[in-house]
Amino acid sequence: MEASTHSPSKGIFDSANLERREQIVTLLQKAYWMELETVMSYLAASVNLDGVRAQEIKESLAGDVEEELGHAKQFADRIKELYGVVPGSEGFEAEQSFLQPPDEQTDSVHVIRGVIKAETGAIEHYTRIVEETDGIDPVTQDMVIQILHDEQGHRRLFEGFLREYEFEGAA
Ligand SMILES: [Fe+2]
Ligand SMILES: [Fe+2]
Repeated sequence: MEASTHSPSKGIFDSANLERREQIVTLLQKAYWMELETVMSYLAASVNLDGVRAQEIKESLAGDVEEELGHAKQFADRIKELYGVVPGSEGFEAEQSFLQPPDEQTDSVHVIRGVIKAETGAIEHYTRIVEETDGIDPVTQDMVIQILHDEQGHRRLFEGFLREYEFEGAA
């Protein structure tokens, strides 16, 4: 009987896959920042908005703050598991120029469009992680698929809000 010269593969933890693992960690660090910036933007909007019809949007955003923070924690845990380091605050660079508070706090449409843009950005980045982890890191892939599902739901909900405003000619 021939003895195998290969040791069993440890997948993404295999030393041969060090470079791929580091690439994935870099993608996860970006995802972590995206989630935390979303927490900041949604928290501000969930408090700032004024008006009767803004209430539903505010409540929805307040709920999303908790969900996005949960995503950030999941990304942080996975970075650690892949031997990466969860970055400190000095590494943060804001990107959500489109989600700064509007001039008028009754401008729900500004916020709705900003949320759709933020969710679209997350969907694009997480789709990339799903592709980059394919066949090499099924655990990260599985986690990111579930988070991607959440973001698709957020985006769909806010598209519905926007359609309502458009239907009424307010957008
Ligand atoms: Fe998220
Ligand atoms: Fe989201």
